[in-house]
Amino acid sequence: FSLKSCNTFGIDARARRYLRIHSVAELAAALANPSLAGMPRLLLGGGSNILLTGDFDGVVLHMAIAGRAVLGERGGHTLVRAAAGENWHAFVQWTLAQGLGGLENMSLIPGTVGASPIQNIGAYGVELKDVFDAVTVYDIASGQLRSMDAAACRFGYRDSIFKHADGAGLVIVDVTFALPTAWAPNLRYAELAQAVAQAGMAAPSAQGISETVVAIRRRKLPDPAVIGNAGSFFKNPVVSSARCRDLLAAFPALVHHAQADGSEKLAAGWLIDQCGWKGRNLGAAGVYPKQALVLVNNGGASGAEVLALANAIRDDVAARYGVTLEAEPVFV
Ligand code: EPU
Repeated sequence: FSLKSCNTFGIDARARRYLRIHSVAELAAALANPSLAGMPRLLLGGGSNILLTGDFDGVVLHMAIAGRAVLGERGGHTLVRAAAGENWHAFVQWTLAQGLGGLENMSLIPGTVGASPIQNIGAYGVELKDVFDAVTVYDIASGQLRSMDAAACRFGYRDSIFKHADGAGLVIVDVTFALPTAWAPNLRYAELAQAVAQAGMAAPSAQGISETVVAIRRRKLPDPAVIGNAGSFFKNPVVSSARCRDLLAAFPALVHHAQADGSEKLAAGWLIDQCGWKGRNLGAAGVYPKQALVLVNNGGASGAEVLALANAIRDDVAARYGVTLEAEPVFV
């Protein structure tokens, strides 16, 4: 089975078996199926945060469970639930159409609702964990459903328990969000605040902010339907304040943002750009000309080619800045 249409990088890797999962019952049946037992398993949502480095000799379970609902109010929040297979952006649009703000800064992020907690998606000043209430998981070992709160999910920057060994046996079935009943715009991200002001929105609505975010993303990021990519390929590296000071002495233009704990987040895109990689290609893999943090498939690239490009970039950034870039997508 070709996975080409199941990953936004558009890598033409194959899987031994492929199943679309529409319900918890189908998930349980697939996991209990003796013909699939002992086979490696890959749980797939929108395929927007994976790099297929070769063929997958196992079974792909494509999560397609549908459904979304407003659950009601609790302590100043409106609780909204969506099943794992719902498209993220369509869900965001649906909440806005219900008059519920809170997700608008994360408009147009590719992928599914079920994948959103895995890497704690975030954009323009809001992370999933800021609007998260709970997740329902199917525990493969026990065959039981259970709920996990934010603490149990151990959210970090583009990270959660679901990216680590102790979360590997948990399948996300649905996600519940807590959206503020008294909504206020979040314009802490300077680029967004500027764009909103430029659009002449004095008192922006959640819908207006969503439209602005969509416009920024369309301008800077490649549409995966046109050019294969997985968004930011590297995380923005976090260094100590002392380290940042040393780097600033040598590179005064270094882009950095102080974190709550005193550490500094560097802009990986800036580091890669400065190393001259922006717009460069290696085989059929390339660095997007408008955003150096995004690696693209210029047509027919293999996972190995993308990996070779990523390694070359990582080596250059390490040699020049002594900073090690960590990949954001999951390698399969
Ligand atoms: N920059 C450059 N050259 C480039 C790209 C960026 O100099 O080619 C500089 C920019 O000028 C800016 C800084 O780097 O000063 C940061 O760039 P930007 O605001 O575009 O954001 P980012 O750090 O590249 C992060 C997230 C994105 C998210 C945006 C907006 C990560 C790894 N990436 O990108 O998330 O949409 O902020 O919030 O945290 C994703 O995770 O897949 C993703 C797209």
